[in-house]
Amino acid sequence: MTIISDNIDKAAEILQRDDLVAIPTETVYGLAGNIYSESAIRKIFEVKQRPLFNPLIVHLHSVDQVSEIASYLPDKARQLAKAFWPGSLTLVLPKKDTIPDLITAGKDTVAMRIPNHPVTLELLRKLPFPLAAPSANPFNRISPTSAQHVESYFKDSIRMVLDGGECKNGLESTIIGFEGDEPMLYRLGSISKEEIEKVVGKVQVKNKKENAPNAPGMLAKHYAPRTKTILVDSEDDINISTMGKRVGLLSLTQVDNSESYSHVEILSESGDMAEAAANLYKSLHNLDSHDLDIIIAIRLPDTGLGRSINDRLERAAK
Ligand code: TXA
Ligand code: MG
Repeated sequence: MTIISDNIDKAAEILQRDDLVAIPTETVYGLAGNIYSESAIRKIFEVKQRPLFNPLIVHLHSVDQVSEIASYLPDKARQLAKAFWPGSLTLVLPKKDTIPDLITAGKDTVAMRIPNHPVTLELLRKLPFPLAAPSANPFNRISPTSAQHVESYFKDSIRMVLDGGECKNGLESTIIGFEGDEPMLYRLGSISKEEIEKVVGKVQVKNKKENAPNAPGMLAKHYAPRTKTILVDSEDDINISTMGKRVGLLSLTQVDNSESYSHVEILSESGDMAEAAANLYKSLHNLDSHDLDIIIAIRLPDTGLGRSINDRLERAAK
């Protein structure tokens, strides 16, 4: 039985016994364990059925902890941390020798962030160790933005979901690594490229949809519903009569002929990108539960958070 509860002390107790707890963050729920416990970390990979070559993000509550994890902090990393932490920014930095290889998949860098969620920040302050936490979904499936999503994936295989309500941002953190001292954007996410560039100037995006990307979790096919999903540029590209019998639609705003679909998910009636990001995974979960033959997603404007959302839709449609 998995318990869903907001009891932070109970969560801390389970984590201190080398067991796992799903934790709320402002991006998506994470499946957390003690970074220094080999058995806890192995359990994370097993429960998620995640390949061992895909490294984990270390979650901290304070910038003072960075020196425990990273051996070097470029100036631009410092500026980004100052601008966005606590928040949806993950920095990939050279690792300290004390960070287990299991966390970093043998790489000499380690990913870290300070999440911006009061419940998880309090939990992290209570613990004598940081938490490794990948998104709390089975490998290649849609990320969870509520305690109920996590429960539906992992009923019986984890002890507890620490309930912190629905995730406010709803998209994973933006991942920045460094080549020399220059920032590279490895994963588009909750903080837009434009916001990052306001702090450190132009950044290169290196999130290719290939089999050995910089962030190894960025495989071409990812974040996928089980229902076959296709991505179109606009409503005009949809010829619904040639599609399967039960067609679902995912659109930023209302469409003209919504009655021709078996189920329609609108990301934001007013076209607000932050609202659309917050609704994206819930809408994909909903579509996936409607027994559809096909899901059609309409691409969003490719700017700001729209770019991050399109990235997820492309991977869902691979
Ligand atoms: O918003 C988030 O980042 C959520 C919440 C729970 O914090 N976590 C999350 O974790 O999305 P996960 O494991 O689903 O995605 C982590 C990504 C993967 O693509 C992984 O390859 C990349 O981070 N990553 C981790 N360590 C890395 C490293 N040393 N170098 C490059 N990429 C790394
Ligand atoms: Mg993930």
